[in-house]
Amino acid sequence: MTAQDFILKSYNSNVENGSVKWASPSNIALVKYWGKKEGQIPENPSISFTLSDCKTITQVTFSKKTGNNFSFDVYFEGEKNEAFKPKIQTFFERIETYVPFLKDYYFKIETSNTFPHSSGIASSASGMSAIALCLMDIEQSLSKVEVDNDYFNQKASFLARLGSGSACRSIEGELVVWGNNESAEGSDLYGVKFDGELHPNFHEYQDAILLVDKGVKQVSSTVGHKLMFDHPFAKERFSQAHNNLAKLIDVLISGDLKAFVEIVENEALTLHAMMMTSMPYFILMKPNTLEIINKIWEYRAKNMSNICFTLDAGANVHVLFPKAEKEQVYEFIKSELVAYCQNGHYICDSVGNGAKRL
Ligand code: PMV
Repeated sequence: MTAQDFILKSYNSNVENGSVKWASPSNIALVKYWGKKEGQIPENPSISFTLSDCKTITQVTFSKKTGNNFSFDVYFEGEKNEAFKPKIQTFFERIETYVPFLKDYYFKIETSNTFPHSSGIASSASGMSAIALCLMDIEQSLSKVEVDNDYFNQKASFLARLGSGSACRSIEGELVVWGNNESAEGSDLYGVKFDGELHPNFHEYQDAILLVDKGVKQVSSTVGHKLMFDHPFAKERFSQAHNNLAKLIDVLISGDLKAFVEIVENEALTLHAMMMTSMPYFILMKPNTLEIINKIWEYRAKNMSNICFTLDAGANVHVLFPKAEKEQVYEFIKSELVAYCQNGHYICDSVGNGAKRL
């Protein structure tokens, strides 16, 4: 597939109005995407678990209009939200070539998250993928050509990527690969569902998100990715990501949890190491992030557990563990880790199967 294949060539202009609604999940990268080229093309391949419960629910209602401009309003959790508009305006500008009907309609975009507002959880992946899916759904109702499910998902992911890179990994589950690579089917243009035979150890894998810092991100991902331009370790990092992806693909099939833990924690710490060694440099972990990591290591050694952690570009900790350890690990979280969470807040999630039409 090339970008050209995603251009809607002709559509029915008689459709006056309509409404579509989608729920789209967040995802957590195991091999991290950090660094991009022009046009939201990743510098290295990544793979993520799709989450089950952390979702954005978006309804798009559209009605025919005249004039050669984008016209839309955004409602977040029932209230009109002006702050989200510039991001969506930019998104519309980037995708107009592929969805040429955007200026023919007024769009009312109503959106809400299942996870608490300002929890420090990035909602761009779930948010952008939910809008992309709604637009694809509208495209279906206008299009003169029937497309199959694969094309629908690929184009939804392609559009989501243009909104926020990692959003392209939120369309399907349980795992999605994004970026050209030698180990698994993948594309720089959209996320591809991991099609290997996933070992049962990873079914319903658990993710407890410990909210260490619920504030606004210290470094936006736009700024973050730019830190990889001229980064002294960029070349090594990008090649490490290819190697880690190759190793992880084998592990997902073999079920080797020890190797899984090593790769995932290595990726999380490398992401933060890149931020600490860039210019300008940042430390995005907080003292409590380190306390939690040390407690996880202690617990793992003492209990022969397969618990591990991963991090996004922030202080919150994603605690990953097999379903078989669910009871014991939640006991451990409640007794030893909650104290390090802001207001004792954490979110219980697990691996899910992707977005759903509502
Ligand atoms: O999709 P963006 O541009 O917000 O970048 C996300 C980058 C990380 O979350 C740090 C890693 C990843 O692969 O999701």
